[in-house]
Amino acid sequence: MKSEKYTKARGQWKQDQIDSELHRIKKHFERGDIENLYRYIYVRHSWIYKTILDHKLKSKLKIAKKILLVGSGMYPYSLLDMYKRFPDKSYYGLEISESFCKLARKIIDKTPTNVKIINADAFEFDYSDFGIDDMIFISCDVESEKTIEQIVKTSEAQFWVCAPYEKVWMFNLLSK
Ligand SMILES: C[S@@+](CC[C@H](N)C(=O)[O-])C[C@H]1O[C@@H](n2cnc3c(N)ncnc32)[C@H](O)[C@@H]1O
Repeated sequence: MKSEKYTKARGQWKQDQIDSELHRIKKHFERGDIENLYRYIYVRHSWIYKTILDHKLKSKLKIAKKILLVGSGMYPYSLLDMYKRFPDKSYYGLEISESFCKLARKIIDKTPTNVKIINADAFEFDYSDFGIDDMIFISCDVESEKTIEQIVKTSEAQFWVCAPYEKVWMFNLLSK
């Protein structure tokens, strides 16, 4: 596959994700019912939980105290979904965009969750607060190679590329 076509398809997939998140949260901000973004999270968006099931990670999850999603976006539904399922863990989202972080914090403030949003670039962040039993999930929209390099350099935490992995936008491209 030509690399230009590949890059374009990946870029389009990323933009589609941003547009769909923005569309959903705008609706709730306008209606003044931001809390519904927590109350009703689509199961099809439980990306961290899906990754845990796909990779059979439940025993690791039992031990983990901290869960980090790298690339948590303006609406960190995967983390909110995890809090609903396992409220005994501490949840963190790492997001490069400052404006996305602000929106995410506004949503989190309307929920009973403990999700902490960190504004940083995944390629430069110091992951040393995450230990050997903690779990780091890398959103499929974040360049995983550079992120993994930095995780390994700065911490002992375990990491996984998060569902829906690379497949969705790749399938979209191949089916055209
Ligand atoms: C589809 S999204 C968010 C995932 C989604 N909200 C969830 O809960 O599963 C991926 C996010 O990764 C962020 N991102 C991309 N590159 C990054 C990097 N190098 N460091 C931190 N965040 C990054 C983007 O800004 C985008 O908001």
